[in-house]
Amino acid sequence: MNNFSNQDSGSLSLTDVLLSRRSIKAVTAPGPTAEQVELALKAAVCAPDHAALRVWRYTLIEQPHVKEFAERVFDILDKAGKPISDEKKEKARKWLKDVPLLVALAYKIHHDNPKVPVIEQTLSMGASVMNFQNAMHAMGFATFWSTGLGTFTDEVPELLGYDPLDYQFVGFLSVGTPMVAASTSERPDPSSVMRRWTPSSEH
Ligand SMILES: Cc1cc2nc3c(=O)[nH]c(=O)nc-3n(C[C@H](O)[C@H](O)[C@H](O)COP(=O)(O)O)c2cc1C
Repeated sequence: MNNFSNQDSGSLSLTDVLLSRRSIKAVTAPGPTAEQVELALKAAVCAPDHAALRVWRYTLIEQPHVKEFAERVFDILDKAGKPISDEKKEKARKWLKDVPLLVALAYKIHHDNPKVPVIEQTLSMGASVMNFQNAMHAMGFATFWSTGLGTFTDEVPELLGYDPLDYQFVGFLSVGTPMVAASTSERPDPSSVMRRWTPSSEH
């Protein structure tokens, strides 16, 4: 159960959507349709994009391939001598068996771009993923960004076709219909993250 369903999300304002998003890990079918994924990707490619580098890469993994993908990850990490513990494997299997869509997230690194340092490319990817998450939320789906499953190895990005020399892999988004209510966890008071600069604040 999300804070709202597909049916009524159309009547919510953009700020309602932004203020109500919460990550939810436990999701199940139905996942988004091809049209809904396309819409979320349209939002993703609206991220700020200095010099139009288009760094964002989204790889869709749908069931039954999600389960198969997890087993492949376990195998290659075992073979690479970077095994995931049996306990973590079981936890991941339990989570992923119901996840209808797993999105692998990477961005193309433009090394030595004179105008756009890699930090800007990283930030653009983060902004893109956030747009994707909010768009999914607006359509009634829950997402969860995770950097488990060997994200920061060479082997897992390579399994997905991302050469670590040219791409930075940044994890996975699970996407689906929420199985639990969104957490009501408090957000910080906005004033706690804000201050004003005036000429007299200079030391
Ligand atoms: C880049 C990134 C990687 C993350 N990786 C993990 C992870 O591996 N495991 C985890 O439990 N949460 C991870 N999180 C946090 C969750 O995705 C989520 O943001 C967190 O549970 C807070 O929920 P909220 O989005 O509703 O505030 C990650 C968040 C980000 C931005």
